[in-house]
Amino acid sequence: MNAVIETTNLTRRFGDKTAVDGLTLTVNGGEVFGLLGHNGAGKTTTVRLLNGVLNPSAGSARVLGFDPVQQGEDLRKRTGVLTETPSLYEGLNARQNLSVFANLYDVPRDQVKRRVDDMLTRFRLADRAAEKVGGFSKGMKQRLALARAFLHQPDILFLDEPTAALDPIASKDVNDLILQVSREEGKTVILATHNLHEAQRLCDRVAVLEMGRIVALGTPKELAHQTHKSLTVEIEVAAGEVTHAQSVIGGGVAGDTLMLTDVAYSRIPAYIEQLVSAGIKVYRVEPHEPTLEEVYFAIQKRGE
Ligand SMILES: Nc1ncnc2c1ncn2[C@@H]1O[C@H](COP(=O)(O)OP(=O)(O)OP(=O)(O)O)[C@@H](O)[C@H]1O
Ligand SMILES: [Mg+2]
Repeated sequence: MNAVIETTNLTRRFGDKTAVDGLTLTVNGGEVFGLLGHNGAGKTTTVRLLNGVLNPSAGSARVLGFDPVQQGEDLRKRTGVLTETPSLYEGLNARQNLSVFANLYDVPRDQVKRRVDDMLTRFRLADRAAEKVGGFSKGMKQRLALARAFLHQPDILFLDEPTAALDPIASKDVNDLILQVSREEGKTVILATHNLHEAQRLCDRVAVLEMGRIVALGTPKELAHQTHKSLTVEIEVAAGEVTHAQSVIGGGVAGDTLMLTDVAYSRIPAYIEQLVSAGIKVYRVEPHEPTLEEVYFAIQKRGE
């Protein structure tokens, strides 16, 4: 796989506080990569380091082959960033805001109008495009800032809490768009979020940061298997065979379903094999995977 972001021991201190502490990380092209962690864990600082708007105190990063410290300007033409507190030109209207940005970021002149219109429609701002941004609601500003991040079709999108201020429909729009650009267009998305449901739905991998350090890294499923070694499994068998099934592998009965509790994930195939060997027809096996929220709390607890 092709790495688009590689950091080695990336570190940033503010006075005697270490915001990002020896981060060594690889992100592959086309991944949606989640940055999770409590307030102050170092998510935003990491995003700023990776875009070259902040220099590291130690360590280094390569992003799309660029060194963010030396080549920040070139790099930022190929990344789209939604910052925590986006600054927009409040005295200009929405369309003008995007046009100014398009020119700044080298969108070819003959494409500016089409791209701007496209983004205004996509983020449901077309009917407010001629209004001054100073009069926009918080969520409308957020949508405009997102439109700006996507405008120049960047290869990597850094989205710092993109849906924090958005209503449910706008949030879903943004989530769908994230999946679309990653799955269909091969873009990489770095998503810093406190919304664990969103992270579970969108992220291929997540890193959990704590005081600037990675305390967990992997797919949501991998992390779940680390924190929740045993789980409940539902096994549905053919009508009339459930008692037989129970005599083979134990568990509780509910209708045609056997409920096994405290099962190690790795034991599931062996149970199925035992049932099949006993001539029992298995229709459905459903492990109750913990949610990312449950996994997150388990990781935090592990750290205490
Ligand atoms: N410019 C700065 N000056 C001093 N300290 C800073 C600065 N920027 C960040 N920090 C400190 O670095 C740490 C990490 O902050 P950061 O903003 O990266 O956290 P975060 O994970 O994004 O948190 P949140 O979830 O609240 O957005 C915090 O302790 C913060 O106070
Ligand atoms: Mg932050």
